[in-house]
Amino acid sequence: MEYANLILEIKNRVLYITINREHKLNALNKATLAELHTAFTNAYHDNRVSAIILTGAGQKSFVAGADISELVTLDAEQATDLSREGHTKVFDVIEQSPKPVIAAINGFALGGGLELALACHIRIASQTAKLGFPEVSLGIIPGYGGTQRLTQLVGKGRSFEMILSAGMISAQEALTIGLVNYVVSPEQLIATCEELLSKIMLQAPLAVAAAIRAINASGSETGFQTEIAEFGNCFDTDDVKEGIHAFLEKRPAKFSGK
Ligand code: COA
Repeated sequence: MEYANLILEIKNRVLYITINREHKLNALNKATLAELHTAFTNAYHDNRVSAIILTGAGQKSFVAGADISELVTLDAEQATDLSREGHTKVFDVIEQSPKPVIAAINGFALGGGLELALACHIRIASQTAKLGFPEVSLGIIPGYGGTQRLTQLVGKGRSFEMILSAGMISAQEALTIGLVNYVVSPEQLIATCEELLSKIMLQAPLAVAAAIRAINASGSETGFQTEIAEFGNCFDTDDVKEGIHAFLEKRPAKFSGK
């Protein structure tokens, strides 16, 4: 499929998804959200893809939020629909990816942009990144999972401060509060994501997918039950036999993903 707002490239089993609306600081309009839905959904079924890096075009911005020009005419019902559709079709779809997704935060990650990064499994930021939730300065609140995912990640106190103040924090501050895993130079951003993914891609793919599902269930009522079920299901795979035999035979495992 042709994408008007995304650039997609597969290299060494990694799919690079670059949001490409640099003139609008990669703000998420409806068309971009629809393309993200398609790109991620396709990636999950694409055997050439084992992992995904999500980033923004240019040096300045990862994503500067939802496209504010599309919010102007919304009434309450339309806004509810927009939020719900974003949750189910994009943000939840990314979080529930069976393949690891890293956000390479190359600049502004604001509002919906920070929510996009929060839906990814791991966040790595450039030293130049600025992160924040400006929504209350516009008279709204984060509507793509920000109030929930930020709070789960950094706790209520930090979350209240960030969301209620509408302020931006630096990449270094984001590292201090656990909002991002690493801060690196702009030149090292993608290489750092690739290095981490190369370690993950050596592991058993079905176990990685099972771990993602179990971690995503943490904090919910079914978290521990999910872990028990996912642990058990691993024993129905060829990979568990290969992993355990490889250990006992003192050789590297060669996983088939079956
Ligand atoms: N939605 C729509 N357009 C946006 C946008 C957004 N969230 N963020 C930036 N843009 C557009 C600007 O309108 C501008 O377009 P124009 O050149 O056609 O006027 C272009 O991107 C460049 O942005 P600009 O504001 O000129 O850059 P800056 O360096 O002066 O400021 C920001 C950068 C990120 C501080 C500023 O763009 C900003 O505050 N953006 C909105 C962030 C926000 O509130 N996001 C949450 C939305 S719910």
